[in-house]
This record gives sequence, C-alpha cells and structure tokens, in this order.
Amino acid sequence: MAISNEEIKNIQNSANIAEIISSYISLEKKGKNFFGVCPFHDDHNPSMSVNVEKGIFTCFVCHKTGTVFTFVQDYLNISFLEAVKVVADKIGITLSAGYKTVSKYDKHYEALDLAIKFYQNNLKSSEGAPAREYLKNRGISDEIIDEFNIGFAPKNFDTIVKLLTSKGFDENTLLETGLINRNNTLYDIFRDRITFPIHNARGNPVGFSARIYKDVDEAKYVNTKETVIFKKGEILFNYHRAQNEARRLKYLVIVEGQMDAIRLYASGIKNVVATMGTALTSYHAELLKKTNVKIILCMDNDSAGEMATLKNGEILENIGCDLSVLRISDAKDPDEYILKHSKEEFIDAINHATTFFDFKMKLLKKDKNLNKVDDVSKYINQVIKELNKSNDEVLIDLTVNRLVEEFNIDKNVLLNKIIKVETPKIVKVEKTPKKKLSKNHRLAATLLYYMMNDVKYIKLYEQELSYIPDRKYMDIANDILAFYLKYNYINIADFITSEIDSDYYSDVLEIIDSNIDTELIDNEYVGIINKIKIWIDENKIEELKIKLQNVTDINEKLSITDEIARLKKREV
Ligand code: UTP
Ligand code: MN
Repeated sequence: MAISNEEIKNIQNSANIAEIISSYISLEKKGKNFFGVCPFHDDHNPSMSVNVEKGIFTCFVCHKTGTVFTFVQDYLNISFLEAVKVVADKIGITLSAGYKTVSKYDKHYEALDLAIKFYQNNLKSSEGAPAREYLKNRGISDEIIDEFNIGFAPKNFDTIVKLLTSKGFDENTLLETGLINRNNTLYDIFRDRITFPIHNARGNPVGFSARIYKDVDEAKYVNTKETVIFKKGEILFNYHRAQNEARRLKYLVIVEGQMDAIRLYASGIKNVVATMGTALTSYHAELLKKTNVKIILCMDNDSAGEMATLKNGEILENIGCDLSVLRISDAKDPDEYILKHSKEEFIDAINHATTFFDFKMKLLKKDKNLNKVDDVSKYINQVIKELNKSNDEVLIDLTVNRLVEEFNIDKNVLLNKIIKVETPKIVKVEKTPKKKLSKNHRLAATLLYYMMNDVKYIKLYEQELSYIPDRKYMDIANDILAFYLKYNYINIADFITSEIDSDYYSDVLEIIDSNIDTELIDNEYVGIINKIKIWIDENKIEELKIKLQNVTDINEKLSITDEIARLKKREV
C-alpha cells in the first residue's frame, strides 16, 4: 500500500531540510540560507543553497533543485517512497501500518535483522560462552558488543534455516540473503563463529563477517558472498555510523579490518570505516568523497598494507579526495596500536599524517641504497615520474629543490626532465544553458512562482487572469490551481512533491530556480498580472490581424479594425 499524501506532507513539514541534508553533507549557515558543496556535480565551492523556510535546495551551478525528498532520493539513489521512509526514520515518524515494501529488498533486510537478533541472543547463551570469553580477552566490552550487534552463530548446521523458514520467509529470499545455501538440503553459512553484521550506507543490514574464536585450521573470517544487496565493492564497514562524526570532526579514517574499526570506535574515534580487506573501488571512493571531509588512509603495518596504501591512495586522489596517509609503526594494525598505546597517541599520529606524495617518496627510497649512484639515479627518475603526474607547481618546485639539496645535483638537469603538463581538465558540469526566456515568459515564470508561494496570489490570478498565453505555463498554473483546490493551501515544496511525476516538473524547478530569491511584493504581482494582460492583448491583436487579411465583408473588416484599435489603446 502506498503512503498517503497527507502522510508525505506531514513528514515534509516536520522535517527540517537543512538538518536532513546536513546529515549527508556539511552545510554552513550564511544569512538565512545554508550552503554546501553540491554532491550532484563536481563541485569545489559551496554552490548549493538550502532554504529552510521554503523547504527546498538549489544548486546555482548545476541547477539541481528540489525538496528534502528529492535530495535524499538522488543522493542515495533510491526511489521517492524509499526517500520518504528515510526522512521519516530520521525525524522519528513511524509510517502507517499499511506502508510496507518500499524497497524490493525489505524482506531481505527483515531476514537479516532477525538473524542479527538471533545471533546476538545466542552469544548470551551457554553455547556462546567461549565466544564471549574470546571477545572479553580482546577487550571488547559488552557495550561495544551491543552497539555493533555482535553475535554468535551456533554450531548446528541449520538453525537459521529453521528459524527463518518458520517465520514464513521463502527459500529464494533466504538464499539471496547469503545466510543459507542449498546442497541437497538447506544449511546455514555461518556456524560456530562470532558474527559481525555489516550494513550499507543507509544502515540496512546486508551481510555478515564471521570470525573464528578458537584455534582451528579454518579461514579466519567467513563473509557473506556477493548477493543482490551485499556488494563488497560498494560497502564500507561502519560507514552509516561514522558519517555524522566525520562531518563534525571534518575527517574520516579508513582502516582495513572491521576489528580495527571497532577498536577505534570503542576508544572514541567514531569517524572510522573499514574496507574489510578488499581493494578500494571507485564506488567506495565516491562514497567517501561525498562526505566532503579529509580522508586519513590507515592501512595495516605490513607490506600488504603498504601496497594497499599505494593503490587506495591513487584511487582516492584521482577522484579528488583530500587525502592524508597514516603509517603506524610498532603494531601490526590500528587495533593493536590503540591497545598498546592509547587513543590520544593515535589521534596525535592522525595529526601528523603525511601527504600521499610524501608517502610515495618514502616508498621509492625504501628498497634503495642511496650511497650507490645507480640507485640515486633510479630514485630521482622515479620521483620525476611522479612529479610529472602532478600539476601542482609548488609541489614540483619544493621537491626539485629537495632533490638538489639532497643529492647535490644541478637543478636545470631536473627541470629539463619536468614535462609541463596541461592542467588536467576537471570534468565540470556545464551550466545547463538556460533557455533564453522572452520577457513575457519571464513574467509568467515569476507569476507562477508567486502562485506557488501564497494562496492569495492564486486567488488574484483566478480573478484577474485565469489564462496565460503559453501552453506550458498555463498547464503549470492549472496544476497549482488543482493543488490548491485539492488541499486548500499551497507551499512550494509540497507542490513540487505532488508534481513529481509530471512532465513539466523540470520546468517548475527552473521557474523556482530562477526566482529563488524573489521577494513577494503584492504591488509587483499586480504589475505582472497587468503586463500579462497586455501580452494576452498582443496575441489577440496578432490573431485579429491575420483574420483581417482573410475577411472580405467590409462591415466585418471595420469591426475587426475597431477591436484592434480598442486593444491597442488598452495597452498604453
Ligand atoms: P586482517 O587479517 O588484518 O584481520 O584482515 P584483522 O582485522 O586484523 O582481524 P583480527 O584482528 O585478526 O580479528 C583484514 C580484513 O580482511 C578480511 C576481514 O574483513 C578483515 O577484517 N579478511 C581477513 C577476510 O575476509 N577473511 C580472512 O580470512 C581474513
Ligand atoms: Mn587485527
């Protein structure tokens, strides 16, 4: 069953659009509006303004405009109804009971949720005692166990199969969750392991990573296989919990393992996500860039971690993330580092994180003996190669000077090797060329904008005009009227939402967009109405002139000429 319009409106009116948007991107208040870096195009300056009063956002570069629902829908790439649900959840409104499957994966989430709860309880059972002991020995407190919904999957081969089929889930859905598998008979994937639920960016449960807790000759972790909702290349462990804190502190730490993320989180560094041992994808990088904060890349302290830093760093830098690299020493991973040192020392290390370029320089030096001419030459050439990927002149100059000093080499030799690279073209969203509107069309757009804002302007339009000599504008005016007649009020945000499927939606947005800061002044509105009346007359005159050419009857000709004269007189 769909959600009712009333319900949607109630959610929209209760939600503060700036608050909701700022849970995804940072916003700053300037004057009465909020501003942020637009996530819908490659924006570098805050181009998006959010108007709380009107309940809409607008980007003045890419021209994206809409309500809180439009934002959430496009930001999370979900359907309109899913966006309504996300907003409702955020402001604590429960949707009516009739409202169920907004996502085609709701059943999957529900099954995973039940499994999470079951595993959580099972950890507290007697069978879970050794697993509890293991967690305790690792210094994982009960609060953290609860916060991360850590659980324990029983040894038995089909507990989850039985539990979930008894709850009415069909086999196919269950197979698709990756919780179970079929081999003649159905069996549980996770058995005799500690379970760590994994969520997607929206906080829906999508899978598990399950760890051994005793000395057995098995893979340390068993993870959910790729499923319709669990795509390793798209998921970052703890992303949904970390976002707010990352925006507050303006940085986000990336680690490899979920245990590292949990340790940092437990120590109070909540702005942390884990790649879960996989290579970072450009999808991950996009997700990270969307937070619009500094990224601290902190991989394990081994050569695999070093390679991961190099590869992941390359991806993050290419996508335009503000990146720093933290290489820990004296511990194999961030988890161990915090246990051995302290949260404060880790934060101190974050504050001393290096640039990605410095990390690469250090790496190039690593396997070389710089007392040998051969190695020095190799090193310098590799550094130059890196510099030639950059268009940062300051970086190039500083690095060249460093090399000159360090190796006593002629600066000109180095400079000759530097290839002047053209500034890479940043793929900027071209300003959508605004349709050049005629004076009359601009007036009509402003008229519609007034009407979308206040019922009194709709009434005045009905009394004075009730017609616009342009099909599209007329249709929008009729849509506004229809909205008012149906709901007995008007409000831009509600109107756009109600018109979300209309073909003319984009025109409505453009009208709002070009009028967003128009102040509503009654006298001006009356002026606009009068000018549109003139436009109507002009059109009539044109029609009459054509008619005049086609009539032969002299009396008729005279009356048309009179009518034209009358209309022309009215114009002045
Ligand atoms: P690590 O081996 O660094 O694990 O693998 P870790 O995080 O330190 O785990 P603990 O401290 O031993 O418990 C990093 C990540 O790679 C994935 C997991 O997501 C792990 O967190 N991994 C590792 C697997 O998927 N399977 C494995 O067998 C091992
Ligand atoms: Mn570890």
